[in-house]
Formats: sequence, structure tokens, C-alpha cells
Amino acid sequence: MIHGGKRLVGNVDISGAKNAALAIIPATLLAKGLCRVENIPDIRDVRLMMDIIRHLGASVRRLNTNTYEIDTTSITSHTVPDAMARKMRASYYFIGALLGRSGRAEVAMPGGCNFGVRPIDQHIKGFEALGARVKTENAVITASSRELLGGSVYFDLVSVGATINVMLAAVRAKGMTIIENAAKEPHIVDLANFLNLMGADVRGAGTDVIKIRGVESMHGCDYSIIPDQIEAGTYMVAAAATGGDVWVRNVIPKHLDSISAKLVESGIDVEEYDDSVHVIAHGRPLKCNIKTMPHPGFPTDMQPQFAAMLAIAEGTSIISEGIWDNRFRYVEQLLRMGASIQVEGKAAIIEGVPFLKGAPVRADDLRAGAAMVIAGLVARGTTTIEDIHLIERGYENILGKLTALGADISRIQDEDDDPNRVIPMVSSL
Ligand code: EPZ
Repeated sequence: MIHGGKRLVGNVDISGAKNAALAIIPATLLAKGLCRVENIPDIRDVRLMMDIIRHLGASVRRLNTNTYEIDTTSITSHTVPDAMARKMRASYYFIGALLGRSGRAEVAMPGGCNFGVRPIDQHIKGFEALGARVKTENAVITASSRELLGGSVYFDLVSVGATINVMLAAVRAKGMTIIENAAKEPHIVDLANFLNLMGADVRGAGTDVIKIRGVESMHGCDYSIIPDQIEAGTYMVAAAATGGDVWVRNVIPKHLDSISAKLVESGIDVEEYDDSVHVIAHGRPLKCNIKTMPHPGFPTDMQPQFAAMLAIAEGTSIISEGIWDNRFRYVEQLLRMGASIQVEGKAAIIEGVPFLKGAPVRADDLRAGAAMVIAGLVARGTTTIEDIHLIERGYENILGKLTALGADISRIQDEDDDPNRVIPMVSSL
């Protein structure tokens, strides 16, 4: 529940990057050894991923909130069952990691946010380029290869997941692998740095050509995950939307360039320092147009949050979604709060209104949920958001961090809310 209308003021410390952690945790399987990883965000998806790692036979010790020791010396299974795999998208990284470790993997089809169809044809294309045989039967992906051989793969489109999955399978393959049209997100670079610390030979991460020379063996290492670009961007937009003045700390400003640029276009001051950005809003944001693109373009994972801010901006903005087929489902929830938005295919036309009105709404997915939190913070009156577990999949301690910034936000458990209730996917109703 949020009582809106309060400016956010003060400091917020950003946690480790979810999408880097979800690639690095499976990557520990590529060595028979001990990895000590710091700055892992304390979020649901990480807890789920640790359950899968334990299920495979590795031992996991949690040294503190954000530090884990993962010992993958002995693995007893190569199967990730449906009940675990379907809870998130990143479970499919275990295909690449198990293929890379011992040439076989059996992973049930992944779940994840519902933005329309989320195919994995590019992942399969990559595994087959390394000589693996991949088949999908009753929603289980089986990949196997007697010996992975380095190969070349030119992705038809830029895919973060496929780039990560092929990197995981290729680091131990015999010979050279060349990935072209690779994704360049910060978490791709973070994974490459982690793999190289484990003894791999990955070059070019962060560009669209990644070259991987296979190595015989890899070893455990100590590592610290980069700060989360999208969590940081979410707090920057929340500060801007509420007319606030917030120091967002523990960030890599370079990773935030496209987000800062759009905020400046909306009339917000963004001052950059070594490991923090200072966001100062002066009154109502101005309109701006956004096109989501692969990194270093504007990140699709910041699209819903910006829509919540532009809903109350001066003027009419256009957001076009360049990555996902259907990532405007949350607009329906903003309309319930008085927004004036029209969705035309992969574009949303947002006519700024003077204010939003609090209402009961729900989180459709992780970033849509974050958008509803921002809408609730700026709205007049009270907003209740259902299904906030979807938000907690990717935001560590969001209630604590927002409360410290002056938000009037609290968790309410309505009587019939059974935490174990499984909400059937719409498609399966
Ligand atoms: C990752 O998803 C992120 N998830 C998503 O963030 C993010 O939106 C997305 O990258 C884009 O940045 C994780 O990292 C766990 P893609 P991923 O493969 O890897 C199509 C969040 O909020 N495609 O880059 O699944 C696909 O349909 C989440 O943290 C194929 O056609 O995204 C999409 O249109 C939500 N075939 C486009 O490519 C394939 O084999 C980009 O998808 C793979 C993808």
C-alpha cells in the first residue's frame, strides 16, 4: 500500500545486478571447485537459482546477505525439473553450463515474464554450432555432446540469453568459438570477467564479436557482481517522477548513460560522480520519446518505469518497444489510475495528465510492478499493488529502500492471500 504525493529525498544504495548474478551462479558449474561470490542481490530469483544449484549436487554456503560460497566439486545430477525451471527465465542457463561442464543437460522449458512468445531458437542454434545435439520433448530441452568443438555462430538477432548460454557452453569446448551479433549488455561483460577469473579465455565481451578459446580445465575464484543498472535506473526515475532529490549510490554511471540522457531530456538534473549519480527534479517532468534497443541503446527493462513518469509529464510522449512483442500490458493498470495512454502495436502514446489517482492495481511482471510502484508514489491518494512477489523477484528490500527515501509504503497481507497460492498462467486457464 502506498500513500502517494511524497517527494523522494536522500540516499539509496544499489544492489548487485540480477541479470549478472543469474548468469554467474550457473557459470560456477564450469569448474570443479569453490567460488566465493559477493554483491549477489538478495532477491527471489537468486534464492530459486541457489535451490537449483543445490538440487544438482553443489553445496552452497551463505556467508552473509549478499555473499555465497558455491562448491561445485561434485555434481550428482544434470536435470533441472519443471517445478524449478518454470519459475524463471534464467533457468535455461543451466543448459549451457551443464553442457560446458560434462556434455549433457536436461532442463525443463523456462518460465519468466510474459511479454508474448519468448523463443529459444538462437540458443539452440548456438549449441548446435558447438556440435551439441538438442531436442525438445514434452517441454524438456535435452542437449548432449560427446565432445564440444569450438564453432562460429552469427545470431539472427541480438539476444542476451543466447549470448550468455553459448558463452557458458563454449569456454570448455575444444578450439575457438566466435559469436557474432552478440549482445553487449553490462552483464555480458561481467560474466566474461568471471569466466576469465575461473581460467577461461573470453575476449571481446561488450562488443558484437566475442571470441572464446576453449580451455582444458577451470578453477574456482572470488568475485564481486557489478551494480544493477536497472535497479539504479528504477530509483532514478522514481526520484524524477516524485520531484525528488536522490543520491543513487554504488553504481557504474557509464552503464546508466542512456537512462540519464532521457531524464535530462525530461528536464531532470543528473550529476555523475565516480560511483554515484545525483538526481534532482524541478517540478513536473517534460515529455520525451523513447525507443528501446539492445545495449547501449535504451534498455527495454526501463520502459515501464519511464511510462509511469511520462504519464504525468508535460506534453505527449511516444515509447516504442524494440525488443519484446507485447510489453505494454501494464498500461491497463496505469489507465485505472487516470493515465491517458494509447497502445498502437509496439508503441505507446502517452498524453501527460496533471496527476494520477491512487487505485487498486496489480503487478503484471517484475518491471511492470516497479512501474506501478512509481505510479503509486506520484499519485494522489492510496494505491494498493497486488502480486508484489513479482517485484521482489528483482528488487532487494524495495520497501526498506523506498521508506528510507521518505515514501509512505507498507506491506499488507490481505486475508485470503495464501503465499503458496499458485496463480495459473492466463494461457493455461
Ligand atoms: C534478458 O532476457 C533479460 N532477462 C530480460 O530482463 C531483458 O528484457 C532481455 O534480456 C533484453 O535485455 C535476464 O537476463 C534473466 P533476449 P532474454 O534473448 O535473454 C528474441 C528483467 O526484467 N529471441 O535478449 O530472454 C526475444 O523474443 C528481464 O530483468 C528470439 O527470437 O532476452 C526478444 O524479442 C525481463 N530467439 C529478443 O530476442 C531466441 O532464441 C531479445 O531477447 C532468444 C531471443
